Amino acid sequence: MKKIVFLSAVLAFSSCKKEVSENTDSKTETYSEGESAKAKTPEDLGKELFEGRGNCTACHLPDQKVIGPSIKEIAKIYKDKNADIVTFLKGNADPIVDPSQFSVMQTNFGITKAMSDEELKAIETYIYSHLK
Ligand code: HEC
Repeated sequence: MKKIVFLSAVLAFSSCKKEVSENTDSKTETYSEGESAKAKTPEDLGKELFEGRGNCTACHLPDQKVIGPSIKEIAKIYKDKNADIVTFLKGNADPIVDPSQFSVMQTNFGITKAMSDEELKAIETYIYSHLK
């Protein structure tokens, strides 16, 4: 009988412990989104490049057209047409979102062509994250 009590106590304890560690896990995730120094996901890196070095936010906002189409619109059209953002940003594909304004976008290829494949992929991931 004693054994059973002991066992259930252990079980209760370990299930408790699991819950606690799960909670901490989700907390760390929430925190890491706002920090840039820790292990970055491609989406974080993409956001950083989009807002920082790329200066893309000057013309592209998440869901509102300013000078350029919104990020959501770009994501939607690229997904629908199964097109490749990375190829476009390397200057190797025709515009499909708003070809009449392409010359404005073209001025940025100097920046995007200097980015690595990994960085361009990260920007693509960031753009697609707006479809969620
Ligand atoms: C000076 C304003 C401006 C800046 C800065 C800018 N864009 Fe654009 N972008 C535009 C305009 C205008 C269009 C619409 C023309 C077009 O579709 O090519 C566009 C279109 C796009 C498209 C859709 C292309 C297509 O197939 O039609 C992508 C993808 C894009 N931009 C990504 C970026 C990224 C990434 C950056 C940052 C490195 C950036 N843009 C910076 C103005 C800008």
